[in-house]
Amino acid sequence: TPPPPDILSPEFAADPYAGYAVLREHYPVHYNEPTKSWLLSRYDDVARAFRDPVFTTDNYDWQLEPVHGGRTIVQMSGHEHAVRRALVAPAFRGRELRDRFMPVIERNAAELIDGFREADEADLAGQFATHFPVNVIVDMLGLDRSDHDRFHAWYSAVVEYFANLGQDPAVAGAGLRAGRELREYLLPVIDERRAAPGDDLLSSLCTAEVDGTRMTDQDITSFVSLLLSAGGETTDKALTGMFRNLIGHPEQLAAVRADRELVPAAFAESLRFTPPLQMIMRQPAEDVSLNGTTIPAGSTVTCLIGSAHRDPARYDHPDRFDILRHDLTPTTAFTAAADHLAFALGRHFCVGALLARAEVVVATGQLLDAFPHMAFADGAAPPETGVFVRGLRRLRLRLTAH
Ligand code: HEM
Repeated sequence: TPPPPDILSPEFAADPYAGYAVLREHYPVHYNEPTKSWLLSRYDDVARAFRDPVFTTDNYDWQLEPVHGGRTIVQMSGHEHAVRRALVAPAFRGRELRDRFMPVIERNAAELIDGFREADEADLAGQFATHFPVNVIVDMLGLDRSDHDRFHAWYSAVVEYFANLGQDPAVAGAGLRAGRELREYLLPVIDERRAAPGDDLLSSLCTAEVDGTRMTDQDITSFVSLLLSAGGETTDKALTGMFRNLIGHPEQLAAVRADRELVPAAFAESLRFTPPLQMIMRQPAEDVSLNGTTIPAGSTVTCLIGSAHRDPARYDHPDRFDILRHDLTPTTAFTAAADHLAFALGRHFCVGALLARAEVVVATGQLLDAFPHMAFADGAAPPETGVFVRGLRRLRLRLTAH
């Protein structure tokens, strides 16, 4: 029997999928000393941990609270969570999304593509994907468009903060400073919008009321801060990951070019194959028995989404990237439910899943139209990095035929 992988080792970071296979096969419910957490690696166990309310999100605090300046809806549960979620959810679906925010998405994709439309080469991460979801959020909130670059700087510092996992104090300090600057930027704007609400998401957050509850200034600043990481970094990495997967499978890229209706399937399969959030923590409120092992109340459970997605008990040939696979139904424009765990499941299911889908569909359509040729500039797919959040830092593409 092979030993369990060390999930904090460089070998694991280079290829987590081999380690996931060992965990699924030999150690499905495994206590990992370095992270002081129980690793769940099989699809059914991870899905259960997301669905069953006995698994709470209480232990998020150590990581998220400092940079976001307070608790966000991710850490809340029960009534408190339901009310806060109901306050923010309407903006991310249905008519709000279609009529108010689709034009914002389309305009921002086009503006960024204009920056490299004539180029022979471009970095799809640095020149597009790290900006696009951030710019969309800034515009949805009704903030000053001339501040896109400032938000990008804050975004980058927060991304580094989470990638760093507290190792380098300089990086941690820069992330905390970015969070603080963002809050200082927002507070006077919140005052203005409370006094004179406009037709934007920040005004909606300032005025919305559910069950007699309104969002406090701190609720709003920490939610906006959360949007940069939860809504920015995930979409950034999902988009570059999808292009990497498609360009690495030219026949599937050709199929998507020929039939744009396949974009949602490509997005879903890419989220399955290379989910940006590879692991998410939970904390059981009571002792829980899984696969014959008892996980004690109060311990930390690490749900390995990246492993669940390669579970042969759930997906045929799970290590094969196949946008036409029969065992995956993509998210539709109307219902967020999906046949994978990249958006989690249950009460904390990603509130931005439909927005993410809309962003990816629009951006992909525009990118494919603008660039009839796409190839890896270095001749091969660049490697993914990161263990918790995983994806590409750069995706240099050659955009001309010769
Ligand atoms: C929650 C993934 C895009 C906002 C989540 C969760 C996951 C996730 C896994 C659950 C966290 C947990 O249970 O602990 C993703 C992925 C995305 C994406 C893979 C892109 C492909 C977005 C976007 C937004 C967003 C575009 C909004 C701008 C949120 C929020 C939550 C959340 C606010 C917290 C929901 C709650 O706790 O009730 N996301 N997300 N996400 N996501 Fe996303």
